Amino acid sequence: TVVDEVRRATAAHGGSVTVLAPGEALPDAASVRSHDLVLVVASRAAERDSGAARQVPPPGRAPQPPHPNDALVAVATDGALVAADGAPGLSPDMFVRVRAGGTTVVVAGAATGLLYGLHDVVRLGEDAFGDDAPPVRDLPVAPVRMLDHWDNIDVHPVMGQVERGYAGGSIFYADGRVREDLSRVADYARLLGSIGINAVAINNVNVHRTEARLLTDGLADVARVADLFRPHGVRTYLSVSFASPVVLGGLPTSDPADPDVQAWWAAAADRVYATIPDFGGFVVKADSEGQPGPFAYGRDHADGANLLARALRPHGGTVFWRAFVYNHEQDWRDRRTDRARAAYDHFAPLDGRFDDNVVLQVKYGPIDFQTREPISPVLAAMPRTRLAVELQVTQEYTGHQKHVCYLGPLWSQVLTFPLAEDATRDVAALVSGLPGRRDTPSGELPAGGVTAVSNVGDDEFWTGHPLAQANLYAYGRLAWDPEADPVALLDEWIGLTFPGADPRVRDTLHTLMDGSWLTYEAYTAPLGVGFMVDPGRMHYGPNVDGYEYSKWGTYHFADRDGIGVDRTVATGTGYAGQYPSPWRETYEDLATCPDELLLFFHHVPYSHVLHSGTTVIQHVYDSRADAVDVVESWVPAWDALRGLVDDRLHARVAERLTEQVRSATEWRDQVRSYFFRKSGVPDASGRPIY
Ligand code: GCU
Repeated sequence: TVVDEVRRATAAHGGSVTVLAPGEALPDAASVRSHDLVLVVASRAAERDSGAARQVPPPGRAPQPPHPNDALVAVATDGALVAADGAPGLSPDMFVRVRAGGTTVVVAGAATGLLYGLHDVVRLGEDAFGDDAPPVRDLPVAPVRMLDHWDNIDVHPVMGQVERGYAGGSIFYADGRVREDLSRVADYARLLGSIGINAVAINNVNVHRTEARLLTDGLADVARVADLFRPHGVRTYLSVSFASPVVLGGLPTSDPADPDVQAWWAAAADRVYATIPDFGGFVVKADSEGQPGPFAYGRDHADGANLLARALRPHGGTVFWRAFVYNHEQDWRDRRTDRARAAYDHFAPLDGRFDDNVVLQVKYGPIDFQTREPISPVLAAMPRTRLAVELQVTQEYTGHQKHVCYLGPLWSQVLTFPLAEDATRDVAALVSGLPGRRDTPSGELPAGGVTAVSNVGDDEFWTGHPLAQANLYAYGRLAWDPEADPVALLDEWIGLTFPGADPRVRDTLHTLMDGSWLTYEAYTAPLGVGFMVDPGRMHYGPNVDGYEYSKWGTYHFADRDGIGVDRTVATGTGYAGQYPSPWRETYEDLATCPDELLLFFHHVPYSHVLHSGTTVIQHVYDSRADAVDVVESWVPAWDALRGLVDDRLHARVAERLTEQVRSATEWRDQVRSYFFRKSGVPDASGRPIY
């Protein structure tokens, strides 16, 4: 259990945990040793029996431990206790930390809150014991904070084992099965619990034959994985194939309206919950990039999602149904079809039709995890649907964990973007279901959550590039608190990962990482143009026309006169019209469209003058050259840390920086030369063009 885990963690620090039975008195001061944690467990039943509401003693009346740095951690199993700061109502993941009378008291509403409170104290270190530490009441904004693994059991000859994985093989699977030795998963589970992640899907959304069987023959092994996640407050999910009734069950159809299909899913869910009683549910990619789905039977996505939801409902499970649906066999000659429109066109009309244990999982941008995209308008268009926003921690389009690219600032922008009508609600509010934040017939707020694709593999540094660990960390912390400052989170990660390091280590890491997303954007993706990546190298490195004449719907339309996609209502694809006010007007109008998204919404001549005062073409030239200068400066800065950090880690980062310089230089020279050759406009700075 989670409480056992807290006990274990405390023992590892030389402390012990006392669990009090309901009604039992708190220990007196003399019996509490330095760094003991005291858990107060009381149930509502005990409260009823005693006929009085139990109170966790306010700090002044807490037992006084003999040592000033002691922490008391208290948990109420069902949230019935009154918190130490006097305010009622502790939700399960919530904790309160108060410092008074020489004691730090952490009170939680349930075991998971206790766990988060413990990690909070660990994260703060001595600061949690400072006498001026202000009382803190902390709870996550999003109820579900999920990581999706795109791990396969089988190893694909081109993709490798983890689709879009840049950190070696899978921590879950080896040799065609779930690993015998799951010790890496146990460590990973602790890592996730410590940053507040509470849900994990353990297989790829593209569900191939072998992996489909996790739902049936593989259940005992999935249960072994779930056993390791459970003590850290993390529930296990599976990605499932919509065609499972056919592929696994031998039925002639997977039609949602077919009673045999419904019975098959119900039986499948029954078996799952008989094996894993706290199983989270299913993640589904349907009718997307060749995956099977309800369209084959003339049904829509609500029919498909509700089919699975009804099988899970008796057990309390949830379907995370992905909105990443578009035509991936587009004719590039067809200028009317716009991939950016697709998710909204498919899903917005279905608002209100999804069962309440369906969460629609929406990628943050309308295309596909690009370095810069506008926020998906789907998130504002479905007030009667539970929504989750999907981020990508794995660096598919942001440098394959070979490039330093700290994504905290991107995700912070996404989560705090005031998307809803009249800019009243941000994305975090739209997916979090906090009271009063969403309109539904019942007035209740269905909550979805925050999800992301994991960047972890069996690499010794977990993430290939050791500094990419900061992205995993920042994701968890932002999913917990979307308003957290991503730069502060970066420093928090640096401090926790390199404890006691020389100040030069902290300063250099900060310098390298702080602006690294914008630097990466500056040499790869000008003004909202994406997908200038190499299809032949798994989206790594430059290829300006790599997707220009392809079937994937990812075009920049550069010609001799200009560049960009006209997505206006007036003259373009109409995508801008999918936004609520004020965004539709903001993006529609050249005068108000922000520079960084200009070419996403407009096709303009190279001579168009940006708000920044420079022309589009000169911006393309300058930003690339300036960004490579920045990346080059990181190499000597990192070299200077030799001997101040672990040697292997130093060597790994150094090797990746060499590659980043090489790759960024290639980006710079190809993109600058390409646009010079297209436009014929010289670079006013006179820097070399080839
Ligand atoms: C991207 C990615 C695929 C992935 C897909 C998805 O297109 O390249 O590998 O399957 O996203 O999110 O489903």
